[in-house]
Amino acid sequence: MASYDLIVIGSGPGGYVCAIRAAQLGLKVACVEGRKTLGGTCLNVGCIPSKALLHATHQLHEAEHNFEKMGLGVGKPKVDWKAMLAYKDDVIGQNTKGVEFLFKKNKVDWIKGWASIPAPGKVKVGKDTHEAKHIVIATGSESASLKGVEVDEKTVVTSTGALELGKIPKKMVVIGGGVIGLEMGSVYARLGSQVTVIEYLDRIIPGNDGEVAKTFQRLLKRQGMEFILGAAVQGAEKLKTKVKLTYKLRKDDSEHTLDADTVLLATGRRPYTEGLGLDALGVELTKGGQIATDKRYATNIEGVYAIGDAIDGPMLAHKAMDEGHALAEILAGQAGHVNYGVIPGVIYTHPEVASVGETEESLKEAGRAYKVGKFSFMGNGRAKANFAADGFVKILADKETDRILGAHIIGPYAGDLIHEICVGMEFGAAAEDIARTCHAHPTYSEAVREAALACGDGALHA
Ligand code: NAI
Repeated sequence: MASYDLIVIGSGPGGYVCAIRAAQLGLKVACVEGRKTLGGTCLNVGCIPSKALLHATHQLHEAEHNFEKMGLGVGKPKVDWKAMLAYKDDVIGQNTKGVEFLFKKNKVDWIKGWASIPAPGKVKVGKDTHEAKHIVIATGSESASLKGVEVDEKTVVTSTGALELGKIPKKMVVIGGGVIGLEMGSVYARLGSQVTVIEYLDRIIPGNDGEVAKTFQRLLKRQGMEFILGAAVQGAEKLKTKVKLTYKLRKDDSEHTLDADTVLLATGRRPYTEGLGLDALGVELTKGGQIATDKRYATNIEGVYAIGDAIDGPMLAHKAMDEGHALAEILAGQAGHVNYGVIPGVIYTHPEVASVGETEESLKEAGRAYKVGKFSFMGNGRAKANFAADGFVKILADKETDRILGAHIIGPYAGDLIHEICVGMEFGAAAEDIARTCHAHPTYSEAVREAALACGDGALHA
């Protein structure tokens, strides 16, 4: 048993950032993690491994479709699935060991095992009970279940099973046209699977800009993915060699079936707080099962805090990281703060999709007068040279003041390009501020400047 200023439960992006920053600010810190490696869902079975597979399969796509156009004759590329998975596992290892190294460097103790909170100020792991002035719950989330669809992580999988399928499926059905469904769906589509996405709503990526969603669907279709929208999945029946999926079209209630070798369930995630003893402790939850916190991440129990996917807000690693960082500062007596109006969201397909701030839909709903500056990557020299001219940048600015309210990018490196807008928004920039900033030529980021110009006197290369 040991005594700490802070014990963080969970070593995902929220937890490990909180632990490291608190230690850097002088607190005596431990982090409890029951997995064999640190890093939580993100590093072990989420963001990082999926990006490795997205990277590998994008290279495959380039070799298959664009190498010859550039005079590169390397023959038909072959996929060694086992080797690709080994590459992905190596990437996971490098990253999880990186967090372990940072824990050692910053003197954060890793308490191995699964934690519960038997009483305020106490954390139990195995037979040991440790004391802590502050306890932070950063236990993340798990895949939400769907009635009639039983996950076995072999033929009916969540994102976890989708990262280590025994073989590349011939036919894959993805339930849910959200981030996980489209990222993992496009991995397998590039590997040659026939991928069909079944989405409950009449559009994909709900919450994102509608125009971006339409373009995105069109581009994914061009890459071979199929979409059934407005459909409610009724069940998945496991037969000898395949899975039979039943769904109803919402418009006419008609029932249909679809066969697949693999079904990926990607209909959202829910907070993971099992085994913590929150009930007995009396921790308040929201109606959605999230841990209820105030603006300083405090729960209703003195000294117990919560961050990341376990609380309200978008389930994004970087949102959790920022909360972990801010809470560490608060616990160290500083003024930690997260600006929830400027949290980018990225979908790492090809092309990438990135967004920040308001959408046209949310501005219309709020009745706010806005203007749109849009620029297509077709007018960007670098994008044309690199076979990456699909997509556009769209900046939304206040009609009167020109202040940037949001931005939506579908195109090459959208996930990186969006940050220029994020910094601008943090500084209360007007579109003209971006438009008057010199951007290196030839870069993709010129498209961002052009969209900013389009908010004023017009783009130059349109
Ligand atoms: P999501 O919320 O992004 O998408 C779920 C989709 O499933 C929605 O389009 C929803 O309308 C649909 N759906 C719900 N019930 C359905 C049903 N019964 N039948 C058909 N469709 C149904 O959730 P997803 O993709 O599972 O991701 C979970 C979380 O993880 C999200 O919050 C996401 O932001 C996060 N994530 C973020 C990534 C990133 O930042 N690149 C990567 C992967 C996950």
